[in-house]
Amino acid sequence: MTSVLLFAGSVRRGAFSRRLAAAAGLAVARCGGKPTMINLADYEAPLYNADIEDSDSIPQRVLDFRRLVATHDALCLATPEYNGGMTPILLNMFCWASRPSPTDDFGAVFQGKPVALMASSPGRLGGVRVIPRLRDAVCELGMVPVPGFASVGNAAQAFSENGDLGDEQLAQGLNGLVQRLVNRAG
Ligand SMILES: Cc1cc2nc3c(=O)[nH]c(=O)nc-3n(C[C@H](O)[C@H](O)[C@H](O)COP(=O)(O)O)c2cc1C
Repeated sequence: MTSVLLFAGSVRRGAFSRRLAAAAGLAVARCGGKPTMINLADYEAPLYNADIEDSDSIPQRVLDFRRLVATHDALCLATPEYNGGMTPILLNMFCWASRPSPTDDFGAVFQGKPVALMASSPGRLGGVRVIPRLRDAVCELGMVPVPGFASVGNAAQAFSENGDLGDEQLAQGLNGLVQRLVNRAG
């Protein structure tokens, strides 16, 4: 069974991007995959500074995150855009987790990992401007994005009570994206 690690680029309580990641998790299960949803707040690390790495080594929470990435077949990311770009918490985690650790054997942990990209915003454009920037970042880390993306605008009204996307076309787009991810990773 294909295992998929899902997380959001926001740790805000009630974050729309976390709801989008959760909706993708439902789609993973429907595709026969095994979703694991995490909150980056549980893996919080200091702002990356090479002096911290040199003196204290890589924080345990980052090592825990690296293990999760390494032990899943694929990743699924949902994020808001901040000023059209990536959120600091996501970028910070990418920086930390990209550092090879002398205490684990996972090496370049993102290398070759299939990934699906999603964005959301309470605004009309659905955070879509972050997608090319996120795609560049994940490719630089060695991940392999599946074609397409999901973008959810007016996110405050986008989700139904069971956690799925209310709009049929958006829901179908998300299902297709997740199906491609599960197919690629399987
Ligand atoms: C620093 C900052 C920059 C933002 N820039 C954008 C933006 O460029 N485009 C946009 O649609 N929303 C922007 N927003 C609004 C966020 O989309 C909104 O706060 C959203 O709810 C955050 O995502 P979340 O619900 O997943 O926490 C910004 C918010 C912050 C705090």
